[in-house]
Formats: sequence, C-alpha cells, structure tokens
Amino acid sequence: MTTVAVVYHSDSGTTKLMAEGVHEGVASVAGVKAQLYVIERSEIIEGHFQNEALLDSLDAADAIIFGCPTFMGDVSGPMKAFLDATLQRWYAHAWSGKLAAGFTISGTPSGDKLNSLQSLITCSMQLGMIWVGLDQNPVNREGRNRLGFYLGAGGQPVYGSDEPRLQDGDRETGVAHGARVAQIAKQLGSGA
Ligand SMILES: Cc1cc2nc3c(=O)[nH]c(=O)nc-3n(C[C@H](O)[C@H](O)[C@H](O)COP(=O)(O)O)c2cc1C
Repeated sequence: MTTVAVVYHSDSGTTKLMAEGVHEGVASVAGVKAQLYVIERSEIIEGHFQNEALLDSLDAADAIIFGCPTFMGDVSGPMKAFLDATLQRWYAHAWSGKLAAGFTISGTPSGDKLNSLQSLITCSMQLGMIWVGLDQNPVNREGRNRLGFYLGAGGQPVYGSDEPRLQDGDRETGVAHGARVAQIAKQLGSGA
C-alpha cells in the first residue's frame, strides 16, 4: 500500500492544526495509508534530533510532507535539527526517489514563509527527493491558497483566543495539498 507520512513541528499549535488538515487530505485518497509524526523539542538533545525510530518509520514511506512554523524567517529550530538528522539517509541515498512536499505557518501573511519552503526544498533535493508543489490557484481572500504560495501550503494563525486557531482557507489548502501528494504517490506507486 502507498504510504504518505506527514512530519511536523509546532510550538503553540497552529502548525499542528495544519498538519492534521494535510493528514486528513492524505487519508481521503483511497488506497493510501496516512501517517502523522510530530517532532518534539524534548527530542532535541544538545542540539541534535534524537528519535531514530521516527526516522526509521519515514524510511518506509513513499512520500514525506514536512511542516513547521516559520521562525525568524526560516524553518523552526526543531525542524532544522530534524533535517540535520537525515544526514545518514543522505549518505545512503535512502530517501532518493521519494516524494517530498511541505507547509509552513507564520504570523503575518508573508512572514518570509517562502524562505522556509525553500529550505525544505533544498534539503529534499539534497536527499534526492522529488518535490510536489501546491496546485491551487487563489480564488479569493479567504479560500484555498489565499496567501498565494505554490512551493507548498502557507498558513496564518487567527490570534486573539486561548486556543490555537488557523484560518479556515489555510486548513482547506492543507487538506488539498495532502490529497494531491497522496494521489501522485499512488499513481507513481502503481505505475499508472
Ligand atoms: C521565535 C519566533 C519567531 C517568529 N518568526 C516569525 C517570522 O519570521 N515571520 C512571521 O510572520 N511570524 C513569525 N513568528 C510567528 C509564528 O510563525 C506563528 O506564531 C506560528 O503560528 C507559530 O506556529 P505554531 O503555533 O505551530 O508554533 C515567530 C514566532 C516565534 C515564537
């Protein structure tokens, strides 16, 4: 069965909401197994990501969708530590040929999200992965891809409540992106 994994870091919960949307989109495609993994700050020990079991699980996935907040204009520290921990996969070409895709959340509409997506792409390219972009045209200011990113899904929190909240259109963007990655992974897997 085609397997698509979503792996994300989130501190205050908005990237988690997006990750759940992406996961929902993956799971909506019949015949695709959707997996959701979280990168915890407690797994960064002396600056190094240390959860080999999570990396082992990703070895078995056909596609990996990376998600994190944008912090200071780039991927969050825990995501960077996780990406650094793929070094052994780079040596072994272990993830070569897998699909990759990404999403990021930041406080402002732009917020330098583009740079985070580019960082995810660069690492994916180093790993020999095949990047899947977002195939959604923005149709209005609230709907899918309202922020106008094509390298991946971008999102923005709704501030002002105690609970983390994500803009509705951004969650929908994540769902659509997850479904697209899953459909392509399935097509490639079956040779169709
Ligand atoms: C250390 C730090 C750096 C941030 N840098 C940016 C930034 O560069 N651009 C931006 O628009 N928002 C920035 N933000 C806002 C976060 O991206 C935003 O709150 C996001 O929703 C956090 O994701 P999370 O809820 O998944 O942790 C920053 C927040 C923190 C705590």
